[in-house]
Amino acid sequence: MTIKIAILRETLPDERRVAMIPAVAERLSKLGATLVLEQGAGAAATYTDQAYAKAQLTLEPDQHKLLADADIVLSVQPPPIETVKKMKAGALLVSFIYAQAHPELVKILRDNKITTFAMELVPRISRAQAMDALSSQAALAGYYAPLLGSTYMQKILPMMTTAVGSLRAARVLVMGLGVAGLQALATARRLGAMCEGYDVRPETKEQAESVGAKFVDTGIDARGEGGYARELTAEEKAKVRQVLSQHIAQADMIITTAAIPGRKAPRLIDADQLAAMKEGSVVVDMGAPNGGNCEGSKSGEVVKVGPVILIGPANLSSSLAAQASELYAKNILNLLQQVLKDGVLKPDFADEVIAGTTLTHDGKITNAAIQKTIEGSGEHA
Ligand code: NAI
Repeated sequence: MTIKIAILRETLPDERRVAMIPAVAERLSKLGATLVLEQGAGAAATYTDQAYAKAQLTLEPDQHKLLADADIVLSVQPPPIETVKKMKAGALLVSFIYAQAHPELVKILRDNKITTFAMELVPRISRAQAMDALSSQAALAGYYAPLLGSTYMQKILPMMTTAVGSLRAARVLVMGLGVAGLQALATARRLGAMCEGYDVRPETKEQAESVGAKFVDTGIDARGEGGYARELTAEEKAKVRQVLSQHIAQADMIITTAAIPGRKAPRLIDADQLAAMKEGSVVVDMGAPNGGNCEGSKSGEVVKVGPVILIGPANLSSSLAAQASELYAKNILNLLQQVLKDGVLKPDFADEVIAGTTLTHDGKITNAAIQKTIEGSGEHA
């Protein structure tokens, strides 16, 4: 019997991506697997059922049949609990899970003895870069943010010389220079804007400059563990605020991408700073789904707050679903290559990448931090 891999159709209303695309599916099947697609799963991302059929995938309209004997199930968003209940015990689920936000789902995965590879847990180490879906999706989202923002501006981004005089280049400030922020900065720069970047990690100065942007230096070093930022003290925050307020007030467009893993998005722009911005300026708050980097932003909505048009995209990578799915599918292929060989599924749980990515296995929550949050100290000891 060959390994059966099922690809789910996403159910969230704003989710257009699909976990596997036809071209990558062909490579996946060479690992010794047959692939079955929930009918219509790729349609919103431009991948038709016919394209999958051409790549030798079977199409299945009935989710019960799709999942009853599937050994591996692929998804982008955390699947609904009802879907997980249809999976067989011992099967492997590969998906974003965001465990802290979905404790009930994690409990069902645990209790139904599903092995879960949570894509957001893939370790941020060199060897795992090709499996890092957080980065692949953030890169596309970051690229898209200034394009989206620019369509709400009544100004162009580059300098332009006309018969009646020159138009100045727009000023774009990107706050948070991780994977998404650097792409946003590079895109805005390529479109001719005058760009500034800001992050609490000082090493981002050089990265901002390498894409032709200036770095806003506040004099605070906020390096934390594992390459991520730490929370700032109140005194540090006041100093940062003072410097940033000037740059915020001058910007025509601001893109915020700041995040601290496992926490609410840090607040980078407050109501007073918003009120001091220019009439018609635009803020794209990529932290909106996580509580917002900017006061007043609403996930999935565009609101006018004082002089500012405040955009809170709920799912930017989904706007580029065709290529976001392509990169995600390749991340999954690279991950499955570690555990699936010659038609045998055999994860090595001693491997750093596999251990780090595994959320549940054999009736247990295997990630210590998440286990503690969800089970506390008493339950399931
Ligand atoms: P993220 O999405 O967690 O955060 C985005 C950015 O927000 C980060 O640059 C962070 O420093 C910044 N930030 C946090 N609090 C802030 C505040 N109060 N004000 C301003 N900025 C703030 O970050 P992402 O994009 O997931 O990457 C984080 C780090 O991990 C980066 O250093 C990146 O280079 C590294 N990384 C390493 C990888 C590897 O070695 N395989 C892969 C991907 C990322």
